[in-house]
Amino acid sequence: MENTGKTKAKKQVLQSPKGMHDILPQDQPLWDRVYRIARDVSEYYNFKHIETPMVERSELFERSIGEATDIVEKQMFTFKTKSRESLTLRPEGTAGIARSYIQHGLGQLGLPLKLYSAGSMFRYEQPQAGRYREFHQIECDIISVESNPIYDAQAILVFCRILEVLKIKDLRVAVNSIGCKSCRPVYRKKLQAYYKSHKRALCAHCVSRLDKNPLRLLDCKEEKCRALREDAPIMIDNLCKVCREHFKHVLEYLDELELPYMLDHYLVRGLDYYTKTVFEIFTGEETVNALGGGGRYDYLIEMLGGKITPAVGWAMGVERVIEHIKTQGINIGIRAKKKIFIIYIGELAKKKALGLIEELRKNNIDVDESLGRESLNAQLRIADKSGAPLALIFGQKEAFEESIIIRDLATGIQETVPLEKMAASVKKKLKNKG
Ligand code: HAM
Repeated sequence: MENTGKTKAKKQVLQSPKGMHDILPQDQPLWDRVYRIARDVSEYYNFKHIETPMVERSELFERSIGEATDIVEKQMFTFKTKSRESLTLRPEGTAGIARSYIQHGLGQLGLPLKLYSAGSMFRYEQPQAGRYREFHQIECDIISVESNPIYDAQAILVFCRILEVLKIKDLRVAVNSIGCKSCRPVYRKKLQAYYKSHKRALCAHCVSRLDKNPLRLLDCKEEKCRALREDAPIMIDNLCKVCREHFKHVLEYLDELELPYMLDHYLVRGLDYYTKTVFEIFTGEETVNALGGGGRYDYLIEMLGGKITPAVGWAMGVERVIEHIKTQGINIGIRAKKKIFIIYIGELAKKKALGLIEELRKNNIDVDESLGRESLNAQLRIADKSGAPLALIFGQKEAFEESIIIRDLATGIQETVPLEKMAASVKKKLKNKG
């Protein structure tokens, strides 16, 4: 058929990249509140804020997270710069924090050093509920001279307290110990031998990682692999004396703090830098999508070229927490600031209104406006929609007489006051309205 030119080509609307989402204005108050609470609670427990770049040298993640992990093997957004340097969008925050600690000699700030950070992370995953390609984490880490189990408990405590203030109920901290340099290799061999003797019953993915990363077989979600793990040797029976003592103390401290933990012998985590304690936090019946996770990483700083400096920490998945708050309809105390609305009529009033807004600002009165709209009706509609308790109406007459009308938007009652009394009158009326 001849193209008459009348059929317009359908405009293609550009979408955000797969698995990456906008955080829209209507959601910002909730996000702000979650960040505010996390920051307030961690500051209470003496965590200091740190920010590291969203992009790091690829080598940092290869060396720290581990080359045989899913993250490094499949999930990194890596690119070459014009100077042929290989950089990666950070898939997690801990490696960057350890790098920054060494680079700036942050140990000088005094140890233990408690660090808080937050930001975007990137993993090339198959997007699904609770799993995105860009997501946000809030992270807390305690870096210290000694590998003291009290820090493990303190780290878990802060995480639980943040979730409690966010009114998230039925928390469950799954904990395990995955041993250290001396006991884990022995256990790893035992586990490998066990799985090799059942190789035929394993899923293809587990067969492929049996040699490189046998611990990950314990958290495979495939039914047949789950059945096999029931008889697999567990780490906790194979811990060396130091790790056993460490884990025992962690559990004692968690008991003392009355934190809701449970042992999970199959919890191994997906990052190679962990030693001793590992943990994940869930809510309700959820068993797959943790609200967050973490653990001890005593060798990471040394592995990246620093002195031997043990550490422990965790990261919370902000999207997962927000989704939970939304689906459960939890009210975490978001109160929209009450603003008053200024309405003008005529060019002179419009010009003078600019100055009035500045005067109100000096008096700590929050003002909303729509100075770009000429029509009074349009302005009134916007004022009504904004939920403002009061409107200030400023017309030609008021502009000449140096006065302004204060209108109660709920009752419609109005009062004209001289401009010099405007701020005081508004404050009084707002106070009376509670
Ligand atoms: P992680 O377990 O890989 O640990 O991530 C922590 C949390 O981030 C997860 O429990 C989850 O809530 C969230 N998360 C992870 N991947 C995604 C995703 N694709 N989409 C949405 N949320 C996700 C770490 O990243 C360690 N750096 C934690 C840590 C800090 N360890 C010591 N200090």
